[in-house]
Amino acid sequence: MSPLPSFETTTSAPAGAEATGRLVGTGPVALGREGGVSEELARRRGFCATVGERLVLADGERSEILLGAGDPGRFGTFEARRAAAVFARALAGESECVLDLRGVPAPPARDLVQAVVEGVAGASYRFEHYRSARREEPSRRVHVLVDEADLAGAEEGLARGLAVAEAVTFARDVSNRAPGDLTPTDLAEAARHLAASGGVRIEVFDEERIAAERLGGLLGVARGSAEPPRLVKMTYEPDDGVALRGADGRVPTVALVGKGITFDSGGLSLKPPTSMIGMKHDMSGAAAVLATAAACRALGVGVRVVAIAPVTENMPGGRAIKPGDVLTIRNGKTIEVLNTDAEGRLVLSDGLVLATEEEPDAIVDVATLTGACVVALGGEVAGVMGNDSVVLGALEEAARRAGEPVWRLPLPSSYRRHLDSDIADLKNVGKEREAGALVAGLVLEEFVAGRPWAHLDIAGPAHVDEARYELQKGATAFGVRTLLEFVGSFEPGGAAGPRSADHLGVG
Ligand code: BES
Ligand code: MN
Ligand code: ZN
Repeated sequence: MSPLPSFETTTSAPAGAEATGRLVGTGPVALGREGGVSEELARRRGFCATVGERLVLADGERSEILLGAGDPGRFGTFEARRAAAVFARALAGESECVLDLRGVPAPPARDLVQAVVEGVAGASYRFEHYRSARREEPSRRVHVLVDEADLAGAEEGLARGLAVAEAVTFARDVSNRAPGDLTPTDLAEAARHLAASGGVRIEVFDEERIAAERLGGLLGVARGSAEPPRLVKMTYEPDDGVALRGADGRVPTVALVGKGITFDSGGLSLKPPTSMIGMKHDMSGAAAVLATAAACRALGVGVRVVAIAPVTENMPGGRAIKPGDVLTIRNGKTIEVLNTDAEGRLVLSDGLVLATEEEPDAIVDVATLTGACVVALGGEVAGVMGNDSVVLGALEEAARRAGEPVWRLPLPSSYRRHLDSDIADLKNVGKEREAGALVAGLVLEEFVAGRPWAHLDIAGPAHVDEARYELQKGATAFGVRTLLEFVGSFEPGGAAGPRSADHLGVG
């Protein structure tokens, strides 16, 4: 909602700078240019230069902000993003600021500046949409100071960082909106605006079309709501100049599927009041995949990206599905719904079937899917599961570069029996309190038709209850940076790998 700070790269500090940030490494080696008197002073004041630490030295007119960069030998984009976020938080009312990155030997200027822009923009984010008296902040200008030889790389990094920051801002904004103000219709409308600015095609299925397409999972979940569902499909086609081609001459396709529950009350299997708080964020997966597709052009992504978001409320209205009802997913498989609060897998099943029809080289779904994943990994780490170790490895590597922590969980085939239904092909829940995140993953696997697929359960990190580093309280847009790294580095025609955790003997 708040405009991003404006950034520019430069090789000389502007005269009127009110605040200057400088990276300082631990140990005897300064990270950037040789430390001046201030660095001596800082050490005396107990500044140790660990990542996240800062020291503001002000003389009334200007301030110098020392930013801990940690061990210079281990300094990378993760540390840079965090130090930059700390810089943004340390600023008071200054409008002209400098971030001095001269002399930083690694990472390369492009990656360094991209991470710094992500960090500053992320920490500067405000959601003031519903405040009657908006806190007006001065428009801030950040001059990113680099060495002459790094200028071209820095400019590219700046453009990339801005594209990522815009995608993150979109995803946070829609996820932070009140559920009554972001119905499925509203989310589809926001996606239309986004698509127009990103130069991507968009198609929105209304209720009638959803029925005609036999999206029985999405229709079923939507029955309890007064708001009609939507299915949003956004397609990015690379320009000829950037398009990668596989061995067969085809441009590869990555399909992204995102869970879009604009409010999850649980349906007739109603959640208790406190568990319902935060359930406006249950569309964060949809927000992430749409934001990703729309940022691909600015980032020059070389593969086709199709983002699919089934969007509905999950409500307990008079026409709601009931525990015991059976839904037929688009591929003809039937699911007995024994708990209407396990609705994400129902709408994602239809989304995944649509994704397979794009004949993609890889499918990645992103969903605030299970409380069990939050129990296992907490609020900072997403769970990742899948049927192909190559795609899983690529997604983990993308997440590492993006600085979004993920941890792989198994999909033991032997747990498939937990989903055996007395009357349908499967049921939507497994055993009480047993492997909830994995069993949810096993439901999804039924709908990917054996295509290489990975599933990201972001129930924990989709929103945070306190600000930290580049994250503000509320929606985080977790997954956007990882997905952008993933589609940006996707290699066509890689060999398929084994299923996740086959080596456990239960795979
Ligand atoms: N949206 C929730 C998952 C969730 C829980 C996200 C907590 C963020 C925080 C999902 O639709 C859900 O309700 N899952 C159930 C599944 C259960 C009924 C098998 C859950 O995790 O309790
Ligand atoms: Mn639910
Ligand atoms: Zn849900």
